[in-house]
Amino acid sequence: MRLLRASLPARAALRASSLVHSAASSSSPAATKPYNPPSPYPNTPLQPHPHSLPVDGFVGAIGNTPLIRINSLSDETGCEILGKAEFMNPGGSVKDRAALGLVLWAEKTGRIQPGGTIVEGTAGNTGIGLAHVCRARGYKCVIYMPNTQSQEKIDLLRMLGAEVYPVPAVAFENPENYNHQAKRHAERLDNAAWCGNRAAHIHTTGPEIHAQTSSLPGGLQAFICATGTGGTLAGVTRALKDLSGGRTQCWLADPPGSVLESWINRGKMERGGSSITEGIGQGRVTDNLAQDIALLDGAFTVPDGDTIRMVYHLLDRDGLYVGASTALNVVAAKQLAVKLGKGSRVVTILCDGAYRYQSRLFSKKWLESKGLYDEIPAELQKYVVLP
Ligand SMILES: Cc1ncc(COP(=O)(O)O)c(C=O)c1O
Repeated sequence: MRLLRASLPARAALRASSLVHSAASSSSPAATKPYNPPSPYPNTPLQPHPHSLPVDGFVGAIGNTPLIRINSLSDETGCEILGKAEFMNPGGSVKDRAALGLVLWAEKTGRIQPGGTIVEGTAGNTGIGLAHVCRARGYKCVIYMPNTQSQEKIDLLRMLGAEVYPVPAVAFENPENYNHQAKRHAERLDNAAWCGNRAAHIHTTGPEIHAQTSSLPGGLQAFICATGTGGTLAGVTRALKDLSGGRTQCWLADPPGSVLESWINRGKMERGGSSITEGIGQGRVTDNLAQDIALLDGAFTVPDGDTIRMVYHLLDRDGLYVGASTALNVVAAKQLAVKLGKGSRVVTILCDGAYRYQSRLFSKKWLESKGLYDEIPAELQKYVVLP
């Protein structure tokens, strides 16, 4: 019975073990006993998880990510704080969805033909997702990105075969901004596409979150996340508002230096400040966000000190090794859950792992240079293992 209820990988492992054992059994009578140790796994449903079945190549493994209960914070607050584990996508971030969405759209609309080139201006993760998807589908990949991004991301893009142009980080109004340079590059080539990404989240991330929470008692009270291109927040907001009949609140979490919180709360674009987070924060309302910004229920800013403390808290208490944008999202989700009251359920996005930023986030010298080392509680400073 225990065998029947084990998960598919566990069943495969058990089958493999008994095969090995029966081969050895001819020479040893003691070895004929079935190899059937008590399972340490809790019972799992007989219905396999979608990813237990074979999927269609790299792109088939994108999406259908688990919703992880952040136990330390849920227990502390009496709320349910859930993170959509986007770092489990095969390219390692929420941007695999955007990348696949962009490529499917370019193919469907005839903007790209076999052997063509996908050009994108990106803070990094979309580029990494695109580089993977382009390899899997036979396209070339060209990426323009601000040269302020971590070396790990730039190196990874090159390792994945992308042509990378790190360019000075200038405002969107400047024609040398990485987005405009990417667009011009695509215009110079035949058979090249440059595109936007909100639809991927309307069609996949949002409906997945709805499906994962709608049958839970009380459903989903709120969703919150930060924005870069705005694709995730706008797309998920649009889907959740539609699917929940407007019952799920949707909020923006902003890093310092971004103008969106002031725009949403006070109707003014207040510039100033900066943040250690990568991939999020905006100096403008992007085309993605403009379409759904009116649906948002509110916004607040999360200071970098809270973000860095959460990076270390999640590592220490929940075993989650996440980047700064994820930590910011979780700080915001906790804050929103407390605001909504005990028993509320809030979902946010766990965008990517810390692997892409470790030379910064776990370096004493770098943290000190940003004035953040002393923000980390003394008992957690043991995790700062890089000089
Ligand atoms: C680490 C990380 N978090 C969050 C985001 C923001 O997602 P979106 O562009 O959908 O707003 C990005 C975007 O590149 C990112 O790289």
